[in-house]
Amino acid sequence: MIIILIGYMGSGKSTVGKKLSKIVGFDFIDLDSYIEEKEGKKISELFRSKGEIYFRKVESQYLNTLLELKSNTVLALGGGTPCYGDNMKNIVNHETVKSVYLKATLLQLTDRLEKEKSKRPLIAHLKDKDAITEFIGKHLFERSFFYNQSAMTISVDNQTVDEIVASIVLELF
Ligand code: S3P
Repeated sequence: MIIILIGYMGSGKSTVGKKLSKIVGFDFIDLDSYIEEKEGKKISELFRSKGEIYFRKVESQYLNTLLELKSNTVLALGGGTPCYGDNMKNIVNHETVKSVYLKATLLQLTDRLEKEKSKRPLIAHLKDKDAITEFIGKHLFERSFFYNQSAMTISVDNQTVDEIVASIVLELF
């Protein structure tokens, strides 16, 4: 089984994924880290040197490679992964994949991302909190169409990592 964690930047996919994998005894793969390792560059550097179109192309390729995995794995995607090409279709149609949307409110995402925007190429240029709120609001609205195709949705606002992991385990096992 592959448990795929989906959600906007800052929704906690990597943190929850690591913990979840330990609890259920699965391997853990973070797609962004996997891409960084394979491409030999940080994501922000990849955006800068090769551009977003190149990033989305390799992101789809590496996702498809990982969807072939036969070992039990928790896979945390990047925030944009489900929203490009056939990625979400391939996830939804995959027999042994369980997709989980970690749903956070605009308020929580803005608070979290304001503090770490320099690491996120898509929002690094935004001036202040109002600009971040406006950007994320629109972006989340567009992306929700894809996120909402997940097999399961967990609300993560005001939940600890342990509580989120427990909700996922309860639903899946
Ligand atoms: C992106 C999210 C990032 C990373 C890249 C693009 C996005 O991953 O893949 O910067 O389009 O939302 P995280 O969601 O892990 O930050």
